Amino acid sequence: MITAAVPNDDLMSAELLADPYPAMAALRESDRIHWSDAQRAWLVTRYDDVVEGFGNPLLSSDRVRPLLATMTDKQRQSAGRVMELLAGWMVVTDPPEHTRLRRLAANAFNPRRVAAMEGRIRGLVDDMLTRFIADGCTDLIADFSFPLPATVIAELLGAPPGDRDRFRHWSEDLAQVAFGAGGAGRPDRHERGMRGLQELLDYFEGLIEDARADPGGENMIAGLLEGDGKGNVLDLEETKAMLALMLFAGHETTTNLIATSTVRLLERPDQLALLREQPDLINQTVEETLRYEGAIRVLIRWVIEDFTWHGKEVRAGQRVFLLLGGANRDPAKFNDPDRLDITRKPNPHVAFGKGVHACIGAQLARVETRIALAAVFERLPGLRVAHQELKWTPSLASRALRSVHVEHDATQTRG
Ligand code: HEM
Repeated sequence: MITAAVPNDDLMSAELLADPYPAMAALRESDRIHWSDAQRAWLVTRYDDVVEGFGNPLLSSDRVRPLLATMTDKQRQSAGRVMELLAGWMVVTDPPEHTRLRRLAANAFNPRRVAAMEGRIRGLVDDMLTRFIADGCTDLIADFSFPLPATVIAELLGAPPGDRDRFRHWSEDLAQVAFGAGGAGRPDRHERGMRGLQELLDYFEGLIEDARADPGGENMIAGLLEGDGKGNVLDLEETKAMLALMLFAGHETTTNLIATSTVRLLERPDQLALLREQPDLINQTVEETLRYEGAIRVLIRWVIEDFTWHGKEVRAGQRVFLLLGGANRDPAKFNDPDRLDITRKPNPHVAFGKGVHACIGAQLARVETRIALAAVFERLPGLRVAHQELKWTPSLASRALRSVHVEHDATQTRG
């Protein structure tokens, strides 16, 4: 058997940021469980292996607590409080702690509660697009897809309308602290991020008090406070941490999905025309853009016990990267996987993960993206991307465009 040469496996290289899919295809073919020196991690690219990875109890999500344990007293003083908050996020815990947190959070994301929010989300999307058009805005990310999910989350949590803009800034602070902690050359950004995070947590405490004073409310905080219906609830610190996680996990992901979906559809006029002819295809369109260019590139797991995986000796303490884009473009699972096809059905992509950590906000993200895309294409029929080359944010975790400068034909636009 001829083994194809192993491709560039540095996920942060300019080549793979611009287009990671050929390298993933080569890895799927030549080295399904691949040790990357560049990433110091195992790269997993086949659909079946990624799905197996989600269910393998030897691959742990608990990746903050071990870091906390190795911090010096000085490091703990500067970043420890935040790390403790992050360590309590269910996304970085394993069962049984994860099972408890997830059960207590489930009520906030109850499908009926999310469905009931559709009207409010539609109203917000309409208002934001009206402003986008009236103000002559041109950056679809900065002026629409970035502020939208933060505003939606603020609304869903019951924050007063005047406070919604603050959520955007807090979300940026949170990302700075969660991803940028300790980064060289940015001590004051980190400081600012920490101050912003503290402000956010204090703010959440106020919202929680308001929700407690008005039991039976409809917002998501009210849902969180109800707990599991058997008297078990999150304590105050856990509730604040859960709200911060919702803002963090639900903001940039949705921003990126709306932006990349818009761009990918504009690149495929046949698919866009089909969607305009058959608006009922909007759900399938969202699923297909999640598969084709999902918002998350890599999910990281820690190996907690040695095991052999398709002939490779995977060792305790090593990292495994589950590459969602590799799985979602695997020809063993999807016909003609590099083609965007909004009629694709079934579409069992893993853009929201799978197993115990599968995205708890998936329904909300779908509703938001569906409403946003439908409104953008309905109200801006002459929409075009103004720049030739797409610029991607250098991020391991996210598939994120930096900006999307658009032009629209004002004679056709429905303000
Ligand atoms: C396009 C948008 C989104 C994408 C692509 C996405 C993707 C994901 C993925 C892949 C996971 C699994 C993480 C893992 O296995 O380690 C996850 C988990 C999670 N997501 Fe999302 N997400 C999106 C939107 C949202 C929204 C809107 C919210 C809430 C407001 C949310 C909240 C969460 C939470 C809390 C978790 C942790 C679940 C757990 O650990 O049990 N996500 N998401």
